[in-house]
Amino acid sequence: MTASSIIEYSNTRVLISKIPEGVAPNKDHFHTVTVTETKPVLEEGSVFVKNVIFSLDPYIRHEFPAGATQTPVIGFGIAKVLSSANPNFPVNSTFFGNLPWETYTTLPSSALALVVPMDLDPEIPISVYNGVLGTSGFTVWDSLRRVADLKAGETIYISSAAGTLGQVAGQLAKRKGLRVIGSAGSDEKVAFLKNALGFDAAFNYKTQDRRSAMTEAVGPKGLDIYYDLVFDNTLDIVLDLLNPHGRVISVGIVAAHQGQSVAAPKNLINILMKQLRFEGYTVYENFDQWGAFCEDMTPLVKSGEIKYAETVVEGGVEVVVETYLNVMRGVYKGKVSVLTGAADL
Ligand SMILES: NC(=O)c1ccc[n+]([C@@H]2O[C@H](COP(=O)([O-])OP(=O)(O)OC[C@H]3O[C@@H](n4cnc5c(N)ncnc54)[C@H](OP(=O)(O)O)[C@@H]3O)[C@@H](O)[C@H]2O)c1
Repeated sequence: MTASSIIEYSNTRVLISKIPEGVAPNKDHFHTVTVTETKPVLEEGSVFVKNVIFSLDPYIRHEFPAGATQTPVIGFGIAKVLSSANPNFPVNSTFFGNLPWETYTTLPSSALALVVPMDLDPEIPISVYNGVLGTSGFTVWDSLRRVADLKAGETIYISSAAGTLGQVAGQLAKRKGLRVIGSAGSDEKVAFLKNALGFDAAFNYKTQDRRSAMTEAVGPKGLDIYYDLVFDNTLDIVLDLLNPHGRVISVGIVAAHQGQSVAAPKNLINILMKQLRFEGYTVYENFDQWGAFCEDMTPLVKSGEIKYAETVVEGGVEVVVETYLNVMRGVYKGKVSVLTGAADL
């Protein structure tokens, strides 16, 4: 390499400073630094990318490796290839995958084996590929088809319903002819579920008594499906309200992301007495249906038949921690993304 080919650039990154133990993550668990680096000479198979947009997901604090500090926080996002030594990832191509919270990254071929190349439709905002047309939307679309066994006329209850997954779950269930109930943490979110997304009933789990609010929302026909995104003690109530042959689809654990521990429900006997099904779903082994998902959902999102509320924050890596903490505080509805906005090198 000649001296003139060396390009120095400024890179901002977020490091883990402390592991959150039994508490919700706070600013003391993160440390943001800005360093000057030299554009790398790429090893075969690797790429140098700009991390264009980060997806701020509640699970991120669970990815902190035990005992690790001063290592970058890793979350989902979309990257654009700036230089490449990998023919499968040419310059200017984009992909979705695990990215460190930093502006620029060099990824080896082993890391690229786990990313999803993305053909971004210029008519669709890039943030949507973090949310309803990304793994969040796919998780809901696939889990409802694979394990929920939705039947028209049934009633489904969705927790964290104004979140990214909850919004999609409610609308897809509604399209299948189910009666849809949701809960969220503010009256504004409850109104959004009913007025903008067409939920049949919704309640504020923070201010209303959960058992009476859910019993009233479910009504005399009872509950058939619980699409659980929270995994908290709401399960006790649900087990009592479920009809025979009801299903609990366990998809999210927002309460655990907050450091809350959950006691096992005391009424598990309902599983036997009502012949219930309790099934967990994780997206990671189900990506074989990704193509079908894109074909099905892209036109629905483009036409506005599937609606979404999301937040895109500008300001780059410097604002990622503050924005993530706001996600955990329930400040936003739906997917929250941060654009880096840094110049291409
Ligand atoms: N199984 C899989 O493969 C898979 C794939 C993707 C995501 N997930 C999981 O699915 C869950 C939902 O993901 P998401 O992206 O849609 O997140 P989300 O629901 O948008 O999460 C943020 C929201 O959680 C709510 N919240 C925070 N603490 C809560 C608590 N203690 N009880 C109830 N709600 C609380 C807040 O809304 P309120 O104002 O309503 O409280 C906040 O806005 C997460 O656990 C995520 O990790 C699973």
